[in-house]
Amino acid sequence: MTSVAHYPLDPCRADLGEKIYAGLCSLVPEGTTPSLSAIEIGRLLEQPPDSKMGDYALPCFRFAKDTRKKPSEVAESLASTLATSGWLDKCQTVGAFLNIFTNKEMLAKTTIPNSLSGDWFSLMAKNVSNNQCRVMIEYSQPNTHKEFHVGHGRNVCLGNALVRLFRYCGYNVLAANYYGDDGAHIARILRYVKAHKLVAPKEHRGEWLGQIYVKAGQEFSAATDEEKQKITAQISEVHRDIETKHGETFKLWENTRQWSLDDFSEIYKWLDVNFDILFYESELTEESQATVSEYLKKGTFIEDQGAIGVDLKPYKLGFCILRKSDGNTLYATKDLALAKRKFENYKIDRSIYVVADEQNHHFRQVFKVLELMGFAQAKLCYHLSYGMVVLPEGKMSSRDGTSVTFNSLKSLMLIRLGEILKKYEHDWQPAEIAETAQRLCDGAIKYGMISTDPSKEIVFNLEDWLSFEGNSGPYLMYSYTRTKSILRKASEQGFKASSDKPELLTEASEHDLLRYIYDINTVVAVACEHYKPSSVAIHLFYMCKSFNRFYADVSVLKADSDDLRSARLALIQSFANALSTGLSLLGIVAPERM
Ligand code: ARG
Repeated sequence: MTSVAHYPLDPCRADLGEKIYAGLCSLVPEGTTPSLSAIEIGRLLEQPPDSKMGDYALPCFRFAKDTRKKPSEVAESLASTLATSGWLDKCQTVGAFLNIFTNKEMLAKTTIPNSLSGDWFSLMAKNVSNNQCRVMIEYSQPNTHKEFHVGHGRNVCLGNALVRLFRYCGYNVLAANYYGDDGAHIARILRYVKAHKLVAPKEHRGEWLGQIYVKAGQEFSAATDEEKQKITAQISEVHRDIETKHGETFKLWENTRQWSLDDFSEIYKWLDVNFDILFYESELTEESQATVSEYLKKGTFIEDQGAIGVDLKPYKLGFCILRKSDGNTLYATKDLALAKRKFENYKIDRSIYVVADEQNHHFRQVFKVLELMGFAQAKLCYHLSYGMVVLPEGKMSSRDGTSVTFNSLKSLMLIRLGEILKKYEHDWQPAEIAETAQRLCDGAIKYGMISTDPSKEIVFNLEDWLSFEGNSGPYLMYSYTRTKSILRKASEQGFKASSDKPELLTEASEHDLLRYIYDINTVVAVACEHYKPSSVAIHLFYMCKSFNRFYADVSVLKADSDDLRSARLALIQSFANALSTGLSLLGIVAPERM
């Protein structure tokens, strides 16, 4: 997958990149130039582990070859030659690292007015090259007739955040869903319903179907070989009736499918998640059958023991079956048709699939088959793979009924939040308590699902997710309400934020907080480039810690002078703006008080 269009550098990194580039020019042998450009060098700047070590650290290993010096010598030479002007205040070296201290006044004067006005947070959306890039992000994709479990919850939260991140960076984004309303699992469920003449309850009918899946699985496991054969034949028949839109079975499929879709819509509404395009597996049957026929004729697909597929053994990907011997297509077949439809009907430049890592092999196969079919856009497809959500006790599985549904997770959290918010019973209206509980629950779930690196599994822990002190959604939301209460108090006393003298913000804790606010755009751009909304979440967490340190360190309402008080209030307001912007990228809206 080609890398994302390059994000523009913020003014500080741009200035530092140019200065370092000029410094390197005088270190490389005559007649040669450094192999990295000023912009690339600006991107190399890292955040040192401790703010005492400066604002940025430049690892100098990459320059050893160009300069024919040891990395530590490069760092030393740069430290003694770089011009301390503009954004650069001071340099120090630690081994092969050049540590850079930026000009405090420049930082405050750039950050405060721009974040107060909000301009800082709309800057990235104006990136012209991203504006021209159409990205489709497909996420959620639950299967009808099955439960929507917490794993689907991770997908929705991650996908929604990714959509928001890409939009923030100016991409032209299409959010897509792809419902699994076809396939063997549905045939299995509907066969069971028919065979046992089951009648659905009046409510939660989608969930009821999900439970049948478990029962059908148990029945099959307990069956004799002969019964298994019979069941399998019946499943194939039901599957064919659905695909060919035939008789009573097709009607049953239509009705039951709607029950699930209604359940899903309710969840999306609760999470405030929206899609621009809805795809359905069932709509792709004809196209996928046609694809199989076309490429069988062309010789790209071959017949093997009655089935049709592609031999991917040369790529260590096994044999990919695309039409079974019973004539039905498979999940992978539909993905070939879907990929083509996405690029051809929507003229996209990039196609992202947010899907659990259980399907890594599936996507490797699908992308490879597309490539062998001569589909040039195959290389523009990217599978954002994410790990499972597990309970402290271990893995969940919908087949054996140990999965936790998203709705039950939500109810569990709302009950706990009800207990936590009980203390406001006498001061707040019931509607405000309910609204606050809802926002905290939503934010706790979203933050919990997003803040872990997508590639890692999440071990769900209710108390951690709801903690007001740790690395959690409620902690971030609480930090936001804290700014609101300080600003309310200030205005009651007639004090106002002002961006007139940001240069008064010279305390270490003020500078530290300014850095986090300033860096938000670069963090989001890099998060987009690496498909990692988790890095935005973590940045916000550290920014909140920095804010709480600042507020413990300095006096705001009792500051030494009016100017200083106004500047600190401006810093608090800037932080609040940065935080609510950042939270909105994760799909979170904080309550106004707590
Ligand atoms: N509905 C599928 C499942 O639950 C996920 C679909 C992922 N997207 C795709 N284009 N294959 O397993």
